[in-house]
Amino acid sequence: MARDLEKLLSNLGYGSRTQVARLLRDGAVTDAEGRPLGPKDSDPGGVLLVDGEPLDPRAPVTLVLHKPVGVVCSTSDPGATVYSLLPPRFAARKPVIAPIGRLDKESSGLLLLTDDGALNHRLTSPKHHVEKRYEVILDRPLRGDEAALFAAGGMLLDNDDRPLLPARLLARPGAASPADGAGDTVCTVVLTEGRYHQVRRMFAALGNHVLQLHRSVIGGLALPDDLPAGAWRPIRPEEAARVPLA
Ligand code: URA
Repeated sequence: MARDLEKLLSNLGYGSRTQVARLLRDGAVTDAEGRPLGPKDSDPGGVLLVDGEPLDPRAPVTLVLHKPVGVVCSTSDPGATVYSLLPPRFAARKPVIAPIGRLDKESSGLLLLTDDGALNHRLTSPKHHVEKRYEVILDRPLRGDEAALFAAGGMLLDNDDRPLLPARLLARPGAASPADGAGDTVCTVVLTEGRYHQVRRMFAALGNHVLQLHRSVIGGLALPDDLPAGAWRPIRPEEAARVPLA
């Protein structure tokens, strides 16, 4: 179905309907061949340029972002948010782009964001058990019983009314105690839930403290090597299939 270009640009955050109509009247929006498009045109699809720059991805879009430490995932925090890493107009898009599950302010790593509300809902639902892998640095060495306690499931964290599902703790490759990581301060934790500060609270419940937390994998998708901390890009179809997002 032909889509109104003015509405498309406004929904992509390029300005109000009035501002966008002005852009179109000024010839700032062209097709791939450089032909200007006007306020009455519909979206021809494909590549469009705004002031010579490629149009932002149309909805629905999913982004893959390497969240650095120190930014929050919320849309409405007074401090630095993940939106400050995206072009400012991304915060004005309709439908809104929202994180699929959150990473806390002090954690880094793989974060997916989408404007597909149904997809977001599906992936964050407690019924959807996509694995998330976290690289953990602890304040104190592992005791050796953490892997078994996590694997058994049933831990009840402070302020939660439901026990945890089983989770996996993997010792660092080359750890002196490969089965349980005993004595080591580095490990990997694999969760199928996404509760508030879950990894930090799991270790706190056992008297330890997480110093660094980094999400390295969601489902079958590892944080892409081409994304340094703070960088993002639209997810590629083969990456979306690996999560899987379908
Ligand atoms: N567990 C945490 O403690 N924090 C996160 O951001 C994700 C999982």
